[in-house]
Amino acid sequence: MTACIVGWSHGKFGKLDGETSESLIVKAASDAIAHAGIEPKDIDVIYVGNMNGGFVRQEFHSSLPLQTHPDLRFKPSTRVENACATGSAAIHMGLNTLAAGKARFVLVVGVEKMTELNSAQAGDVLIKASYVAEEANIEAGFAGIFGKITSAYFQRYGDKSDALAKIAVKAHKNGAKNPFAHFQKEFAYEFCRNPSDKNPFVAGPLKRTDCSPVTDGAAAVVLADVSTALGMKRAIAFRAAEHVNDFLPMSKRDIVKFEGPQLAWQKALASARLDLLDLSFVETHDCFTSAELIEYEAMGLTAPGEGERAIHEGWVERGGKLPINVSGGLKAKGHPVGATGVSMHVLSAMQLSGTAPDDMQLSKATLGGVFNMGGAAVANYVSILEPLR
Ligand code: COA
Repeated sequence: MTACIVGWSHGKFGKLDGETSESLIVKAASDAIAHAGIEPKDIDVIYVGNMNGGFVRQEFHSSLPLQTHPDLRFKPSTRVENACATGSAAIHMGLNTLAAGKARFVLVVGVEKMTELNSAQAGDVLIKASYVAEEANIEAGFAGIFGKITSAYFQRYGDKSDALAKIAVKAHKNGAKNPFAHFQKEFAYEFCRNPSDKNPFVAGPLKRTDCSPVTDGAAAVVLADVSTALGMKRAIAFRAAEHVNDFLPMSKRDIVKFEGPQLAWQKALASARLDLLDLSFVETHDCFTSAELIEYEAMGLTAPGEGERAIHEGWVERGGKLPINVSGGLKAKGHPVGATGVSMHVLSAMQLSGTAPDDMQLSKATLGGVFNMGGAAVANYVSILEPLR
């Protein structure tokens, strides 16, 4: 254990008209520093998680947190990018900086302002996170990539549309309890299961309710080394933090297997000396409902091809043996790409400190797992978190 989260902030996710990535960064940074109970001058190093790629014209984001307070001027700050795992990538950079003894306090801000573009334009930006040489012409942006993966999964294991619809229903039921979520409303099973004008097919077997939305938002954490964290008001420790990158081209992999996520989970559980079911909950990367289904298998909850059991048998519901995405996940909470990984850590820290919003708080939350994924199972980050004391 090398580091802890000692302060955090999470803004409302959604279509945030009138906000800019700058205004979102400044609020998230200032709220996280205040929550940690430290002064801006105490921050040694800053990382900004922002994918961008054309969502907004302002590409160079590293110095925007300095707008928060004059005492942040001249602090070293770097923008980190690793597709949809950008937020976790920025956090892991912070952990490395602390492990190297180069800082006592690191500020990490994750942000994305996506809704200045319409869905089709956002899809054009997101498809840049595929292997462009082979995959960029696929229809429907990044949803097309997961449409293809879902079709391949269905071909191998049979049509799992019932399970995907149930995963969407679970996400929205949980999201309705999360005041930070983009969508705070429940969706009926029939609506998610059956295509309609309001729920059309988007790519392959994926309908609109199988996709995470295009969302704006920001979240931030303050990280500290363990000896510093021992003197802080709150401290959520990293019991494990693992990062595994796989080949980018889907043609070089069995894409239905999610081998990178599987290895990241295996390494994290081994270094934490835990079994998966020791965890009280998991926040996993459900950019599409089929991603969550395959991730059940990758994390070791079920055998390959049997992920549907986890949702059909209720294991991953709030009251189940491993609650998954009690925040509503990317599906309901929204997926502002650069903010997502930071958001997953913040919402897990809230659960573990017993400070999640009332209806969202789990009665037992002692160990939490986070899985954040960039591209189609390419950049894979697993964190295992627990209260320091
Ligand atoms: N889930 C459920 N409802 C959604 C939704 C989603 N993902 N996205 C939009 N809606 C709702 C809107 O709230 C709106 O509802 P209303 O009519 O009651 O106001 C309605 O659907 C139409 O919204 P609109 O934005 O016009 O939909 P769209 O068809 O342009 O976009 C998607 C829908 C699914 C194509 C878009 O959200 C998308 O591209 N998602 C994937 C993003 C992505 O690839 N992220 C990276 C993953 S790695």
